[in-house]
Amino acid sequence: MKEFEVKSVFDTTNEYYKDGNYPLFCGNPVALMDMVNSPYPELFKLYESQMAQSWRWDEINLSQDRMDMLNANPEYVELMTDTIMYQWTLDSIAANAILPMFAPFISSPEVNMLFTEITRIEVVHSLSYSHIVQQTMPSPKEALEKTMNLQESLTRGGKIIEVFDHLAIVGGKIRAGLIERDSDEAREALFLGMVNLYILERMSFMSSFAVTFAISELGVFQGIGSLVSLIARDEQLHADADKIICKHLVKQMPDVYKKVRPHIEQMIDEAVQIELDWNTYLFDGRSCVGLNKTLLDDWVKYMAQDIYDVFGFDKGSRIEENPLPYMDFYLDLGSTQKAPQESDIVDYLIGGVESTLGDEELDF
Ligand SMILES: [Fe+2]
Ligand SMILES: [Fe+2]
Repeated sequence: MKEFEVKSVFDTTNEYYKDGNYPLFCGNPVALMDMVNSPYPELFKLYESQMAQSWRWDEINLSQDRMDMLNANPEYVELMTDTIMYQWTLDSIAANAILPMFAPFISSPEVNMLFTEITRIEVVHSLSYSHIVQQTMPSPKEALEKTMNLQESLTRGGKIIEVFDHLAIVGGKIRAGLIERDSDEAREALFLGMVNLYILERMSFMSSFAVTFAISELGVFQGIGSLVSLIARDEQLHADADKIICKHLVKQMPDVYKKVRPHIEQMIDEAVQIELDWNTYLFDGRSCVGLNKTLLDDWVKYMAQDIYDVFGFDKGSRIEENPLPYMDFYLDLGSTQKAPQESDIVDYLIGGVESTLGDEELDF
């Protein structure tokens, strides 16, 4: 196999600073943390917002939650425990992986900053779940064991892990000089990796949060609910960032987009089905006042619509009304669901790195 030159950690051949036309990914590696040029102000703003909403995993008192684990309705305890274990697993993946996984592909200083900050806060998220387990569960060691082996949870996260594993392998090839950063292999893996992150943060996490908050709404596990609401607020911001980045990628990599578009639809379809299967498991012999499988399924589809819309997939019937109004209290749904100005968000980009291929040609 042909070997390509491995770029230095300070790539002096990087000339994007001259006109500010930084692509997001798969061009030269970031050299200067250049904010003199700032072609993606909306991403920089999200970086600042994430910094401003920083918090600690241990800032909420969980002593009543410890009592609730022992005394609450056992069905609620089981639902809460399974949900927390899934979120712990997937947030640990986010903490371990986002920056290391995407780093070999990043070309934009804004993305570098944002993914560094997001990865830092993902550590706080995964630490929060560890803290919940340690502070509230009768046997934290048993909970660790169960989380590492909860088959339904691993199946639920399996597809997401598979796509990220592939991204990590391709990133390794770039780092080893085996393929170029702008090769088709690199760009396709990167594109699908971003879609995967968007699916995780817009749909899978939001689905899980709906269960956590439904139980908190009943007056138990209030501390856990408050802690997870801080996580949910961050994930909302992350999903907004993913959406903006995916929209840019559609324009910056039109050839890759055309090729992987069917794969993207299949990924979203599969992710929805995995969530619906999980909901079947979750409500098999268990119930929760205010939430059932039908409502949670609709919530999953409602969140998935946002992802389908970004790539212009028409899945037929739409869910127009939020099926879980209590989620409005925890999430700013105005920013989640499609707002008119969002369709123009790529217009913020200054310069010529966007493709001239029109939206119509992309069914966008
Ligand atoms: Fe997270
Ligand atoms: Fe996240």
